[in-house]
Amino acid sequence: MQQSLPYPLSSLDTNVLLVLVTVGVVLIVSSLNTGGKIKLPGPRPWPVVGNLLQIGEDAAITYAEWAKVYGPVFKVVLGEREVVVVNSAAAAKELFIDQGSTYISRPMFHTFHKVVSSTAGFTIGTSPWDESCKRKRKAAATALNRVYVQTYVPIIDSETLSLIEELYKDTDKGRLAINPFAYLQRLALNVSLVVNYGSRLDKVGDGLLKEIVEVETEVAQFRSVSGTPSDYIPLLRYLPSLTRGGTKEKAVEIRKRRDRYMNLLLDDLKERVKKGTDIACITGNILKDPEAKLNDMELSSICLSMVSAGLDTLANTLIWSMGFLAKHPEIQEKAYRAMYDVYKGDIPDSSEEKVDYITALHKECSRYFSIIKLSLPRATLGDSQYRGVHIPDGTTVFLNAYAIHNDEERYEDAKAFRPERYLEKKEENLQAHYSFGAGRRMCAGVHLANREMYIAFCKIIYFFKILPSDVKGEEDFDICPETACANPRGLSHAPKDFKIRFVPRDRSTIEEWIASEKNRAELQMAAEIKARI
Ligand code: HEM
Repeated sequence: MQQSLPYPLSSLDTNVLLVLVTVGVVLIVSSLNTGGKIKLPGPRPWPVVGNLLQIGEDAAITYAEWAKVYGPVFKVVLGEREVVVVNSAAAAKELFIDQGSTYISRPMFHTFHKVVSSTAGFTIGTSPWDESCKRKRKAAATALNRVYVQTYVPIIDSETLSLIEELYKDTDKGRLAINPFAYLQRLALNVSLVVNYGSRLDKVGDGLLKEIVEVETEVAQFRSVSGTPSDYIPLLRYLPSLTRGGTKEKAVEIRKRRDRYMNLLLDDLKERVKKGTDIACITGNILKDPEAKLNDMELSSICLSMVSAGLDTLANTLIWSMGFLAKHPEIQEKAYRAMYDVYKGDIPDSSEEKVDYITALHKECSRYFSIIKLSLPRATLGDSQYRGVHIPDGTTVFLNAYAIHNDEERYEDAKAFRPERYLEKKEENLQAHYSFGAGRRMCAGVHLANREMYIAFCKIIYFFKILPSDVKGEEDFDICPETACANPRGLSHAPKDFKIRFVPRDRSTIEEWIASEKNRAELQMAAEIKARI
């Protein structure tokens, strides 16, 4: 006869049982630990968890410290995965560029790939390298190349106009201090939406805007290489109460919310294409192209990439920069004078990057704040070598942009914020910074992002003086890249909240410009779009 348990197993008992099993596994594995497959130096791993408990809150900063002990390329063990961490510009060149066709793939992670992305597919930035990924990357890279980006300038200009107008109006003409983050997020998201779907979201308080920003911020958390321990320790997937807020349930909820707005955006475009009221945009062009070789999943992956890739990355770079500029009026004045030298007091033109100091300024912001400190993870496709050490096929590799940006051998006086470094001759043939990654899977949106930053910096600094808040208790805030980060475990790092003022340099100039530019921008955008059709 079958005997039943005297009492039912509660979830606590299940957890206790699993913890006991874990301890058993720990003991067995620790007795088997042979030092792993990759014979690079690195900190001694603990059984089962590896180095996970040693990497601290901000893994990139810890890795930069470890690089001083173990050298620029070392190994960490994260749960069951051995990871190679690259910490210098020279090593990045040797691996990501000189062996570019090997360092070309992306690793798979349980939470992001199996739970969050099970319906809409992976973004380009999370797709392992195969024929499908090649097609997606080619389509996106073509639509985002230098020549196409030039045609998007009116879109960027028009969104920057909305930014300036709302910063002016919502702060009561510069009298009130605000946290400008939501405005910068809208700029980033709208440029991507217009370029990809030919549509935009209107107000900063727009419900859909809020939903997209909230969900994409969560997705970025799941994509972080140090935010989800259950990606490295499979057993944790069965202990929801011990993982971050029940990782799986949260991921499923996020996936559903993401599917909802991605379908909404695509259906809206399909409807406009059917009615013939659409304007030229990347996805519209693919939908209308009978020769297009992309299937539905690939199209959906491109759309996902366009919505997510430029959102928190660009907005975070801009918000760190605004906070820093508010504390450094001397840099704003140098930028203003540099614009004056080129445009003699006229409003800077967006069609060309003519003001070298502004270009140098956005490059230095990208370097100094390293907003994706650990880039997007790579996986090797085939065997490779680093200084005689074998790195097997399928190895996960992290590029520590933070460590490179703080490497004195690459950047003299690395801790100093100095845009001038990019105006010096010796920088000419070097990669300016690693915030867009390196090699064959480097950011496909680099030209668009750079142009967005250039135009935003020009217009904001031309029209406003950025100042700290004048409200008691809000005047001082931390903007140091090491200590002010609000989400050190995230993929893309944002500073802790602060408020600043955008005080118009001259109210009548700004008001006249808004009135005339609104009219001109609409006409120019219509002409550009017509030309592209
Ligand atoms: C300041 C803004 C941005 C930053 C800091 C940034 C950073 C990055 C980084 C670090 C990567 C991984 C590179 C690597 O593995 O070497 C990446 C990939 C990518 N980015 Fe960006 N990005 C930005 C803006 C954009 C924008 C505006 C778009 C397009 C709308 C975009 C599209 C992509 C795509 C499609 C990939 C995947 C490339 C691949 O895996 O082949 N990014 N980005």
